[in-house]
Amino acid sequence: MKKDLISIDDLSIKNINDYLNYAEKIEQIPLKDKAKMLAGKILGVLFFEPSTRTRLSFEAAMLRLGGNVIGFSDVVSTSTAKGESLADTIKTVEQYCDAIVIRHPREGAARLSAEVSRLPVINAGDGANQHPTQTLLDLYTISRFFGRISGLKIALAGDLKYSRTVHSLVHALSKFDGIEFMFVSPDTLKMPEYVKTASNTKSFKCVETVDLKQAIIECDIVYMTRIQRERFPDPMEYEKVKDSYKIDHNILKGAKSTLKILHPLPRVNEISPEIDSTPYAGYFPQVGYGLTMRQALLLHHIGA
Ligand code: CP
Repeated sequence: MKKDLISIDDLSIKNINDYLNYAEKIEQIPLKDKAKMLAGKILGVLFFEPSTRTRLSFEAAMLRLGGNVIGFSDVVSTSTAKGESLADTIKTVEQYCDAIVIRHPREGAARLSAEVSRLPVINAGDGANQHPTQTLLDLYTISRFFGRISGLKIALAGDLKYSRTVHSLVHALSKFDGIEFMFVSPDTLKMPEYVKTASNTKSFKCVETVDLKQAIIECDIVYMTRIQRERFPDPMEYEKVKDSYKIDHNILKGAKSTLKILHPLPRVNEISPEIDSTPYAGYFPQVGYGLTMRQALLLHHIGA
């Protein structure tokens, strides 16, 4: 077993399937039987960037398993504000806990943390780089909705340039057979070449388009993303593309009845709330599957 989870690229298809199978087992265990599985263990949750789902689901997962949580979500209240280095923060926190979950705006921060720590380190998002636990929960969501991952036609839409969620997901999906991708974005937010190159396995099939409607009609899954204002160096560039896509009843005419819309959330205005109560909306169940997957991750990395 690997000590850390830093990048989806570090995982083989077998590693990924092991996580998915483990999550399915965890989902079957009644709450009361899970309640002591990590009793006496402490998780350090270090969030140098804002989060709702990732931080709270890791904390909830730990508490559901009978463990405890320490950490911060506001870096201003920590000694980082006094100039402490990330390495020193990690070497300090590891004295207090059994594993560390970290989100950081700098690419490579999670890898650096893992290198300086003797504890398992889980990457909860590093800059525009990777978000591997989101990817595992996305794969788990897909397998729970469709009973399989291979052979699906999947559109990734919105901010494909800066979305670490999408980058990790493309890398992971490329390890499965027969996935057909549609990359849907404005021209200025296209999927980076390095993501396409790294994912270019023998069966890699991908169409790039600006046309969301075409993707909705053709695909099994539309994985929508937010245009992320905070990643744009130039605010004017954000203003030009911020309203590029919106999923509402109108654009969904002609979709397969089995279409699922997924989204890592948070959303801004790219999915109308009127879609939430339709069978297409998979994004809130996806949040729930995130709690299951993070329980599986904690059990795997801290030890049952
Ligand atoms: N999907 C996701 O990472 O959400 P948060 O930013 O709320 O953690």
